[in-house]
Amino acid sequence: MAICESSSAQSGTNSEKSWWILHGLVAGAAIAAAAASYVALSPRWYGKFRSRAVGIIPARFASSRFQGKPLVQILGKPMIQRTWERAKMAGTLDHVVVATDDEKIAECCRGFGADVIMTSESCRNGTERCNEALQKLEKKYDIVVNIQGDEPLIEPEIIDGVVQALQLQRAPDAVFSTAVTSLKPEDGCDPNRVKCVVDNRGYAIYFSRGLIPYNKSGKVNPDFPYMLHLGIQSFDTKFLKIYPELPPTPLQLEEDLEQLKVLENGYKMKVIKVDHDAHGVDTPEDVEKIESLMRERNLS
Ligand SMILES: *[C@@H]1O[C@H](CO)[C@@H](O)[C@H](O)[C@H]1NC(C)=O
Ligand SMILES: *[C@@H]1O[C@H](CO)[C@@H](O)[C@H](O)[C@H]1NC(C)=O
Repeated sequence: MAICESSSAQSGTNSEKSWWILHGLVAGAAIAAAAASYVALSPRWYGKFRSRAVGIIPARFASSRFQGKPLVQILGKPMIQRTWERAKMAGTLDHVVVATDDEKIAECCRGFGADVIMTSESCRNGTERCNEALQKLEKKYDIVVNIQGDEPLIEPEIIDGVVQALQLQRAPDAVFSTAVTSLKPEDGCDPNRVKCVVDNRGYAIYFSRGLIPYNKSGKVNPDFPYMLHLGIQSFDTKFLKIYPELPPTPLQLEEDLEQLKVLENGYKMKVIKVDHDAHGVDTPEDVEKIESLMRERNLS
């Protein structure tokens, strides 16, 4: 018998939670960044703490599931360009760069005006690529945001939210920040949807491919505000230097979730809650889906 059941009758979500604070920015996609509103409201906001931020979009050509993915056209523009344009709109970023090991990608990006940093082919993942790119940048930054190139509809406000989460005087102990949105109950048992639980100050307690928290009944509770982890991550740059060097940890290996290494080593991670429909592009089929969605919403 399945230990994690989800029934289609449970698809009505209760998303009217008081912590969804800001609304309605990009194409009907409301977004609420709890951290962002702390910034606006907090009298203890000095504006100088970890002030300089860079956004890095790691992009590689080779991909087992989708060769050449960053260059795929989405309504007539390469996906990487769409991601970059969104990132450029984030007010907290002093600089946005594409980090790639591929000449075709680099050429395309320079063509639409992006700064490109060439990284080695040996980077095992996006975090390593960000780290290498960061070392090669001329200027020094306090915060680096890893912006996934396969989320062409990422809202700039989400990028700003994760940056500000690390700039807050009230979270000086956090070295990492990321975002979650509400999980659709029907995705409760999908191991590809990573769930997250946080403490009452918005620090991550745990991430899992399994359903957390786990209801006593063994079923998805349609009334519980489960949270879905989004791919965006931002780091204190000093932490990014040691992060790849930290040895893998048991929970990280068991769940195959890199971010668990941060928590297992005792570092603090700030999580912001946003309202976002994830439209990641993982396969060629996803391109059509996102294009029809953009047509629906009149995005070009
Ligand atoms: C579990 O979920 C049900 C709804 O499915 C809810 O009524 C209940 O309060 C939840 N918690 C426990 C401990 O059963
Ligand atoms: C990415 O590479 C770092 C080593 O630099 C490693 O610690 C981490 O677990 C890797 N993450 C994934 C998702 O492979």
